[in-house]
Amino acid sequence: MKINDNVIYIGVNDHQLDLFEGQYDVPNGMAYNSYLIKDEKTAVMDSVDVHFGDEWLANIEKALGGASPDYLVVQHMEPDHSANIGRFVEAYPDAKIVGNAKTFAMIKRFFGTDYPDKQVVVKDGETLSLGGCELKFIFAPMVHWPEVMMTYLEKYGIFFSADAFGKFGALDVEEDWACEARRYYFGIVGKYGMQVQNLLKKAAALDIKTICPLHGPVLSENLDYYLGLYNTWSSYGVESEGLFIAYTSVYGNTKKAAELLKEKLEAKGCPKVAIADLAREDMAESVEDAFRYGKLVLATTTYNADIFPFMRTFIEELVERGYQNRTIGIIENGTWAPMAAKVIKSKFEKSKNITFTETTVTVASALNAESEAQIEALADELL
Ligand code: FEO
Repeated sequence: MKINDNVIYIGVNDHQLDLFEGQYDVPNGMAYNSYLIKDEKTAVMDSVDVHFGDEWLANIEKALGGASPDYLVVQHMEPDHSANIGRFVEAYPDAKIVGNAKTFAMIKRFFGTDYPDKQVVVKDGETLSLGGCELKFIFAPMVHWPEVMMTYLEKYGIFFSADAFGKFGALDVEEDWACEARRYYFGIVGKYGMQVQNLLKKAAALDIKTICPLHGPVLSENLDYYLGLYNTWSSYGVESEGLFIAYTSVYGNTKKAAELLKEKLEAKGCPKVAIADLAREDMAESVEDAFRYGKLVLATTTYNADIFPFMRTFIEELVERGYQNRTIGIIENGTWAPMAAKVIKSKFEKSKNITFTETTVTVASALNAESEAQIEALADELL
């Protein structure tokens, strides 16, 4: 695949992976992107996952017609992009490796050597000439590792964005961008909103026509849409009108309460009510929905004087990603000593700008007239 006559896609699709980064379901696989820039000198942008070294090296060979590349630029050291540095060095012993001081410290940890005779160490804002074009390196620490740098190829307005603007899903499967990009963003980068905001400020100063991320498709049209979503996500803003109900239910009574709330909200005109059973549905999908909407309802049972385990995990996932600027309603259930609402509130104590609804629904085992009236009041309050 050509980005243009001088920039060629040399990445791979992975349909064998069970869990990306050891935890994320990827029903449509994953792409590890890599690019080749041809000029008087040639540069390869990043490598790929360890299982695809043969395919990647064959892609380089084909794209260069058997010639040797001059540089391997290492923007990110997470192994889905760096695992084949050693094989690259074996295949092309005369090529140089371009990275920053943190990159080479990590290369030494992963490969036992930092290839001292091959290093080109760059600083933030420095450039590397390939002859007719120049690579400008833009550091983006914690998007999403500390050594991450991105690269601007001014001649063509191409921004190589490392993990930013990536998504789950291989490139030979057609699917909506935002859904899997949002799940990827909040799962993997979500904690680092401030760092993404810093990156967006740097990017705003560039004339970007094409974004080449390390996962997901190359973006070359309607860039304001993608940049706008990244701005909303990284500033913990509300993306969509509506509300998300996340529940756990042991015998179905808490589920009935959650579903009754959904019915009432819809009957009262709420534009969108998303709902998920945290024990049975993809946790990363629920995390993205919690960040997508401005209002969240948590429905769960009291359990071991705490809350049901999947709800505990869900809240931890939100809090560690800086969950903020949201309204939360609670439906608690408990047969002899309901205390889920108190426990939930305590778990958000350190979160910024969280407002709990005045109404808390208490289900004492099963729904009754009293708890149904509380659900009606909660629906009214949320709207
Ligand atoms: Fe795609 Fe942070 O690695």
